Amino acid sequence: MTLTLPSTIAIDGPAGSGKSSVSFAVAQRINYLFVDTGAFYRAVTFLALEQALDLHDAAQLVALCEQTHFDMTPDRKDDGRQFTFLANERDITQDLNTPQVDKAVSIVAATPEVRASVLEAQRLLAKKGRVIMAGRDIGTVVLPNADLKIYIDASLEKRAERRHKQRRDNGEQADYEAILANLRERDRLDSSRDTAPLLQADDAIKLDTSDLTFDATIEAAYTLIANWTPSAT
Ligand code: DC
Repeated sequence: MTLTLPSTIAIDGPAGSGKSSVSFAVAQRINYLFVDTGAFYRAVTFLALEQALDLHDAAQLVALCEQTHFDMTPDRKDDGRQFTFLANERDITQDLNTPQVDKAVSIVAATPEVRASVLEAQRLLAKKGRVIMAGRDIGTVVLPNADLKIYIDASLEKRAERRHKQRRDNGEQADYEAILANLRERDRLDSSRDTAPLLQADDAIKLDTSDLTFDATIEAAYTLIANWTPSAT
């Protein structure tokens, strides 16, 4: 029997919930394109910092978006990347997860004009189908008609622990308390902003991973996908 899989899968959740790693692993397993929408906001943030723009000035950010063609490809290299992110053809993948970008990205992501600018590029990537798109507002705003929506959550402390371990494993300096404070603040900013706040869509299935290992989370997400049935409507 062949499985009928949902063509567009939206995975939302807070920072550090593991949604990107889980989405990537599941996408590999079912041979889908993985789109990490946080990368778009990180890219705008990185470029704005690089050009010393005022992050609170929406006009400067919009001008930057208008001058930049963003693209995301499944190309991988030997540096652990899950995708390659291009800004005007320049590979900035490795610049997206620095502490400086981590710290500033919520401001950029809360700017409605920036969100409007990147929305079409994100929808375009989903257009061909066979895509798992991860973010904060995929089920609610970017792909409200996604075939399957999953909301991945975990307690703040668990998420901080995981991010701390991930940084240490990568050989980076990491302070648990600082990571915890950063995640708490990002939760607050992501959830309280006016435009496209972090929100579970009414028709999303919640997956709490606080007590699940990474492998068990992948299995749980895969099971939801494999058990999906096309709705009659
Ligand atoms: O998932 P992440 O940590 O890479 O996200 C980076 C930032 O972008 C974070 O502040 C939330 C924001 N974001 C968003 O507002 N909407 C999305 N669809 C994805 C990320």
